Amino acid sequence: MACQCGNGGCGTDYGTPARVSEQMVEVEVDGITLTVPVGTSVMRAAAEAGVQIPKLCATDSLEPFGSCRLCLVEIEGRRGYPASCTTLVDNGMKVHTQTPKLADIRRGVMELYISDHPLDCLTCSANGNCELQDMAGVVGLREVRYGYEGENHLKSAKDTSNPYFTYDPSKCIVCNRCVRACEETQGTFALTIDSRGFASRVSPGQNEDFFDSECVSCGACVQACPTATLMEKSIIVHGQPDHRVVTTCAYCGVGCSFVAEMKGNQVVNMVPNKDGHANHGHSCVKGRFAWGYASHPDRITKPMIRENITDAWKEVSWDEAIQFAANRFKGIQAKYGKGSIGGIVSSRCTNEEDYLVQKLVRAAFGNNNVDTCARVCHSPTGYGLKQTLGESAGTQTFDSVMQADVIVVIGANPTDGHPVFGSQMKRRLREGAKLIVVDPRAIDLVKSPHIKADYHLKLRPGTNVAVANALSHVIVTEGLVDEAFVAERCEPQAFADWKNFVADASNSPEALEAATGVPAADIRAAARLYASAGNGAIYYGLGVTEHSQGSTMVMAIANLAMATGNIGRLGVGVNPLRGQNNVQGSCDMGSFPHELPGYRHVSDDVVRGEFEQAWGVTLEKEPGLRIPNMFEAALDGSYKGLYCQGEDIVQSDPNTQHVIAAMEQMECVVVQDLFLNETAKYAHVFLPGASFLEKDGTFTNAERRISRVRKVKEPLGGYGDWEATMMLAKAMGYDMHYDHPSQIMDEIARLVPTFHGVSYDKLEQLGSVQWPCNEHAPDGTPIMHIEEFVRGKGKFFVTRYVPTDEKVNQRFPLILTTGRILSHYNVGAQTRRTNNSAWHPEDILEIHPHDAEERGISDGDWVGIQSRAGDTVLHAKVSTRMQPGVVYTTFHHPFSGANVITTDNSDWATNCPEYKVTAVQVVKVTQPSDWQQRYRQFSAQQDDLLKHRETVKAQ
Ligand code: SF4
Ligand code: SF4
Ligand code: SF4
Ligand code: FES
Repeated sequence: MACQCGNGGCGTDYGTPARVSEQMVEVEVDGITLTVPVGTSVMRAAAEAGVQIPKLCATDSLEPFGSCRLCLVEIEGRRGYPASCTTLVDNGMKVHTQTPKLADIRRGVMELYISDHPLDCLTCSANGNCELQDMAGVVGLREVRYGYEGENHLKSAKDTSNPYFTYDPSKCIVCNRCVRACEETQGTFALTIDSRGFASRVSPGQNEDFFDSECVSCGACVQACPTATLMEKSIIVHGQPDHRVVTTCAYCGVGCSFVAEMKGNQVVNMVPNKDGHANHGHSCVKGRFAWGYASHPDRITKPMIRENITDAWKEVSWDEAIQFAANRFKGIQAKYGKGSIGGIVSSRCTNEEDYLVQKLVRAAFGNNNVDTCARVCHSPTGYGLKQTLGESAGTQTFDSVMQADVIVVIGANPTDGHPVFGSQMKRRLREGAKLIVVDPRAIDLVKSPHIKADYHLKLRPGTNVAVANALSHVIVTEGLVDEAFVAERCEPQAFADWKNFVADASNSPEALEAATGVPAADIRAAARLYASAGNGAIYYGLGVTEHSQGSTMVMAIANLAMATGNIGRLGVGVNPLRGQNNVQGSCDMGSFPHELPGYRHVSDDVVRGEFEQAWGVTLEKEPGLRIPNMFEAALDGSYKGLYCQGEDIVQSDPNTQHVIAAMEQMECVVVQDLFLNETAKYAHVFLPGASFLEKDGTFTNAERRISRVRKVKEPLGGYGDWEATMMLAKAMGYDMHYDHPSQIMDEIARLVPTFHGVSYDKLEQLGSVQWPCNEHAPDGTPIMHIEEFVRGKGKFFVTRYVPTDEKVNQRFPLILTTGRILSHYNVGAQTRRTNNSAWHPEDILEIHPHDAEERGISDGDWVGIQSRAGDTVLHAKVSTRMQPGVVYTTFHHPFSGANVITTDNSDWATNCPEYKVTAVQVVKVTQPSDWQQRYRQFSAQQDDLLKHRETVKAQ
C-alpha cells in the first residue's frame, strides 16, 4: 500500500511525541548508538534507531500513558522491566529490547488481552490494519492458556449512534488512547474510562451514546484506536483500502492535509495526514467524514441548456453546451456592449481554476467584470492589511499560536469555523496562554473544559471599531506602546496622527461604554493584558469583516498589533481566519475586478503590460464590476450574462429578493457546479463541476500555505473545471491551452512575484509552501514582516467609529447577527448532502431568555424574523449564549432565507455586506413566511424541470 505521492502520511509510529531540546543525550539501543534530545522516551529513541518495540497504548501523537505493559525493556544497571514509553533516556543508557525474559512477559500480556477479545479476525473490519493483531504476531503468541471461557466483555452492546463510526466495547483493550486523543488532540474531553479494573470501559459522557454526548465527531479517537473498537462505518462497508493519495480538505481555510484511502475508484476513508503542515494529523467532522456528497445521486454529470429559466433542461454534449453559452455571450456583447457580461469565481475552487476564470473574463470577455465570493467575506482583510502592512494576507503560520502568551479572538468562532486550528489554540490555552474573546455571543471558547476566557468583551454588534479604539486609547494613554518598535518600523507622522486620535477622551473605554455595551474596566484590563503580553496574537474572522466598517476594523487591528510590537515574529501577528478553503487563493489569483493576479491594480501600465504580453491581448485598464454592481447593472439592463463557477450567489449574497430580481433580468447565466444549487435555478447553461476528489490543483489556506489537491478519481462529468473554462475561452475566440493544471501554476509563477518559486515539483518536495515563495524565499515565508513591513514602514490609520446606518428602533428592536456551525459549511450544498445533517437539520434562531419571555417564545417555537429587507421563519432556541437584544442564526439551509432579511448595507471600502448587523423584530408565528412558501413552490418547479430534463445517451 505505497503512498502514491511520496509525501508520506502513512509512516512510522515512533510511539511517543518528538521532544525539542538543545541538550542532547547519547543512548545505546540493542547495540546501536544514537543521540537524541533530552526528554525523549526510550521507545522513541529505539524507533529512531530503527528498533520497533512492541506497544499498544502508545502512539506518537499522544503523551505516553504506560498502561499496556507490552513495551517493557531491560536497561543495564536498572532493576526490573521499565515501560519504554514512559521511561526517558539518560546519557550513556544501554537498552535491550529483545531478551527471552521480555519475550515471555510480552506473550503473557498478549495472552490476557486475547483471552477477552472476540476471535473474529478474519471477518473483523480492522483485519489487516489492527495493532492488536500485529502485536500478537510480533510477540509470537501461539496459545492462550487462560482459555476464552472466563469472565469477558464479548457480549457488550455496540454503539452505532454516530453516523460515521461505531463503538464496539467487546473489542476494547482499555488502552486509553481514545480518551487521550479526545483530550490532548481535540480538546473536547468527551470520553472517560468508566468504572475500575475489569469493569472499566470507555464511555462518552454519562451513560450516553456517542451521538448524544459532547463528542464533535472529529475522529481523533477513531484514528488513535489500535483495534476495531472505534471503527469508521465506511471501512466496515467497503473494507480496507488498496492505495492512498495525499490531498487537501475542500472545506475551511485551515486547509488540512488528508490521505484519501482508496479501493480502486472508491474512497473508503479520509485520514488526516500526520505530515500535514496545517493540521499535523488532526481533522474535524467535515474533512474526516463529510465527503460522501461527491458521489451523491444529486450530482449532475451532463451539461444542460435551456432557452428560458421556465423551460425544462435539455442534456447536451459538452461542445453543444459550450457553443450555446459562447454564442449567447457573444450575442449579448454585440447588443449591449463588451461590459455586459462577466464572471464570478469561487473560493471553493482551486487556484488554477480561479486564475483561469479571471483570465477568461479579462482576455476573452475583454473586460474586468470578475469578482469572487471573498467579496462577501474577507475583502476587507485584503484592503485593510494591504493599506497598513503592505500585504493582503495573514502574518503567521498556525503553529505560531503555540508561542502566543495572550490570544485575542475577535469575531471568530474557531471551534466551529476552523475546528482543527481551534483545537490547536485550545491546546495552547490549556498550557496557560491567556485569552481575550471579543464577540457579541458566548462562543465555546469563552468557557469549555479546562479553558476560560480571561475577558469576554461581549460587545453590541456593529461596535467593533469603538472597542478597538477604546483598547488603543488605553494602550496609548497608559504608556503601553512599544515605542522602540514603532520608531524603527512605522511611519512617524501616521503614528502621531493615530496616537492623537485614539488618545482623545472621546475614545476612552468610559466614553464608549454606552455604545459598545462593554464595561470600561474590562476594556482597560484586556488592553493591559494584550499590550504587556510577551507575545500577543490576534485572530479574527467574519465578525470583523462583514460590517459597514469591516475594512476600518481590519486596519484598527493592524494598528493594535503595530503599536504593541506584536508583529514580525513567532507567537504574535494579525491572523485572519479565512472561511472557505481557498479564500486566500481566490484573492491572490486576481479575482477582484480592480486587481490582476498578485494584487496589482489593473490601471498599472507596467503590470498590465506584462499580462498583455503573456496573454497576447490588450487589457482593459478600468476596474470592472463588483458582485453588487453586477446586480445593479442587471437591474438597470446593462449587464446580461454571467459565468459563475462554484459559487451560489443566490443563497449566499445579502438581500435575496434583490439578487433574484437581478438574476431574472439576465439573458445568459452559466453555472458550473456539482448540484443544481440556488443560482443554477436561474441559469440557462449548466456545466457539471468536478469535486475536489476529481481534479488536480492547489488550495491556499489562511496561513498563505499552498497545498496540492490531487485527483483520486476521474471527473464524473468528464472534465475538470479548468478544462471547461478553457473550452469556453476558445469558443469565445480566445485560445488558451494547458495540458495539466501544473502548467497553469507555472504561468502564475512567471507572472506573480510572490509565486516565482512555486511549482508542483516544489510542492512535491516540501509538501506545502507558504507564499511569498520566490528568489528571496525559496522555501516560502512562514512569518511575514520580520525585518520590515512589505510596504516598507508600517502605516497607522485613523479609525473613526461610525455607527452603522442599520439602527434598532421600536419596530425592529433586536439585532440579528449570523455565523456558522461545526457540522455545516457555507451554503451547505455539500454538507447538507452528508450525514452531518443529523446534527443540524435546519438553521435555528438563538434568542436570549429575556427577549424570548417578553415575546412568549419557548424552545422549538416557530418564530417570524422581520427586517427592513424582508422576513423569514425559523425554529427558536432560547439560549444564554446570547445577550439581551441580540439574536443569532446560521445560514446553511436555503429554506431558512437568512439572506432574505439581511440588508444591502456594506463595507465602505470593499462592499463586503454587513451580514452581522440587521435590525429585526421576532414574533411567534405558526407557518413559514410568504417568501419561504414562494421559495418552496419555485424550487419544486425547478426540481421538476430538472427531473423531466431531456436526456441524451452517454457521450
Ligand atoms: S476504544 Fe480503542 S483506543 Fe479506546 S481504550 Fe478501547 S481499544 Fe483503546
Ligand atoms: S470523535 Fe473526537 S470529539 Fe468525539 S469522542 Fe472521539 S476524539 Fe472526542
Ligand atoms: S473543514 Fe477545516 S478544519 Fe475541518 S478538516 Fe477540513 S480544513 Fe480541516
Ligand atoms: S506501550 Fe508502553 S505501556 Fe503500553
